[in-house]
Amino acid sequence: MDKVRAAITAIGHFLPEDRLTNADLEKLVDTSDEWIQTRTGIKERRILKDPTKATSFMAANAAREVLRKRGIGPEEIDLVIVATVTPDMFFPATACLVTANIGAVNAWGYDVSAACSGFLFALSTGAQFIESGKHTKVLVIGADKMSSIVDYTDRTTCVLFGDGAGAVLLEPSTEGVGIMDSIEHTDGTQWASLCMLGGGSLNPPSAATLEQNLHRLHQEGAPVFKAAVKGMADVSAQIMEDNNLTGDDVRYLVPHQANLRIIDATARRMGISMDKVMLNIERYGNTTAATIPLCLIDWEKELRKGDNLILAAFGGGFTWGASYVKWAYDGDKVNA
Ligand code: ACO
Repeated sequence: MDKVRAAITAIGHFLPEDRLTNADLEKLVDTSDEWIQTRTGIKERRILKDPTKATSFMAANAAREVLRKRGIGPEEIDLVIVATVTPDMFFPATACLVTANIGAVNAWGYDVSAACSGFLFALSTGAQFIESGKHTKVLVIGADKMSSIVDYTDRTTCVLFGDGAGAVLLEPSTEGVGIMDSIEHTDGTQWASLCMLGGGSLNPPSAATLEQNLHRLHQEGAPVFKAAVKGMADVSAQIMEDNNLTGDDVRYLVPHQANLRIIDATARRMGISMDKVMLNIERYGNTTAATIPLCLIDWEKELRKGDNLILAAFGGGFTWGASYVKWAYDGDKVNA
């Protein structure tokens, strides 16, 4: 019998209906559809417009889809981990709001803050609870309402981000499938390149922080781009080498969707062609912690038990990492 691994046994998602297109952005800032598409690959993003709804609403909807597809009740969930940088509020954790919303009365939960690497960091921590034998049903959710922190007067960032949520269920498997390996990195020395300065204990909200526009995402694109290209390519190549995988062994690269050019560089380094790369940045933009599960949802029907997937991400912090996942079920047998 193979060792106990954390297998992804169901996936779910939520995308708001409202679309923000490049043409819409042309009316807000000095940009063009041509610039956005050639520099990023994005055509449109989804925006959660209802001001009464926030990240936990999207996360709970994604979680409900997981439960429905797996055919289990919320009371069976042991643990809910939510990766997000746009929690509904500082505290309680978004995971607490999600457990209440879906009726996961026997679960505990917490949030993970690792920006665009949040889903991968949450996945590898969630997997530990399965592998150790402590839990048998862990929900890992990546959800972000980026529109709540994006500055729609800053053309260098407002074109990049969208809102959304994706969720996976982790359960134990001894069939040689599941999360086979993962690598995580953090380098805080360049934190100022990608951050939101206001609202925390360093710069509590005040008239001054509002005036200085500190409650919005700030990014210096060029240094982040440079670090992302190297970080995502290096970590993806490393996890393949550690597991003796060649490009031919990999069914799909599932990259964080920040910029088509970063993804392209990663695929080239891994020796895999773009037809084996999950890409939906054109439709959703960068949904931060939600990008990877939103790709899995879009490709679910294509996936077969035993497929080798490399999940890779880079984000604010800096944070970056990769997971090697052997897919656990035939996607075309799932009733969506
Ligand atoms: N429309 C038109 N022109 C623009 C726009 C826009 N939306 N944005 C920037 N420009 C201009 C700039 O002002 C600049 O003009 P200048 O030369 O006159 O100064 C020019 O275009 C080039 O700007 P660059 O920043 O060099 O453009 P670049 O090709 O680097 O693309 C981008 C910018 C897309 C932001 C890129 O740097 C990038 O993808 N960075 C990484 C993003 C990322 O991976 N983030 C990590 C994850 S996010 C997270 O963790 C929350």
